Amino acid sequence: MDSFAELMRKRRSVRSYLDKPVPCDDIRAVLEAARLAPSARNRQPWHFVVVTDERRRSKLAEICGQQQFVAEAPVVVVAVATESERIMTCDIPAYPVDLSIAVTQMILAAAERGLGTCWIGYFDQEEAAKFMQIPDDHKIFTVLPLGYPADEPVDKERRPLADMVSFEVFGGSREGTK
Ligand SMILES: Cc1cc2nc3c(=O)[nH]c(=O)nc-3n(C[C@H](O)[C@H](O)[C@H](O)COP(=O)(O)O)c2cc1C
Repeated sequence: MDSFAELMRKRRSVRSYLDKPVPCDDIRAVLEAARLAPSARNRQPWHFVVVTDERRRSKLAEICGQQQFVAEAPVVVVAVATESERIMTCDIPAYPVDLSIAVTQMILAAAERGLGTCWIGYFDQEEAAKFMQIPDDHKIFTVLPLGYPADEPVDKERRPLADMVSFEVFGGSREGTK
């Protein structure tokens, strides 16, 4: 089994999937990873719809701006925020934080099982919500295809650590700010 560090290095967005079913136990393990995620005040403001029907996956791909790989994946998990109003004391909305953690845990649990995913943020909320029969006060957070990758991993570019870390105060150097 990969170490956690290795998993994070290997994980990538997968945009091409094999026509190979995902075992139910693996789907369940991926959902369980979301269930265990931390959330503000432990509200767990999420719901996950597992879509396997081929016609429904095709329609979802269409709603996601014709991203055909969404239909190619044998499973599509639609992550739904069940609370979209709450703002934390720190002035940050709670649901995007909570849902992001839950979905990230799903993505890593999938990667651990050799399964690929791709976070989809490009979709028409109104059309998707209607198609998925989402209650009015809920919001689709992301659409997540899940399946065995059909392509080879490509190296991902990331900004260097030195560009994104400072010390003691924003922009402070390691030598201190004095
Ligand atoms: C919030 C969010 C929205 C995204 N939306 C899309 C999308 O609609 N379509 C897509 O192909 N990839 C989407 N991605 C994947 C990113 O393009 C990808 O994570 C990024 O290029 C880094 O590549 P990697 O995931 O392979 O490391 C999204 C990722 C995030 C986190």
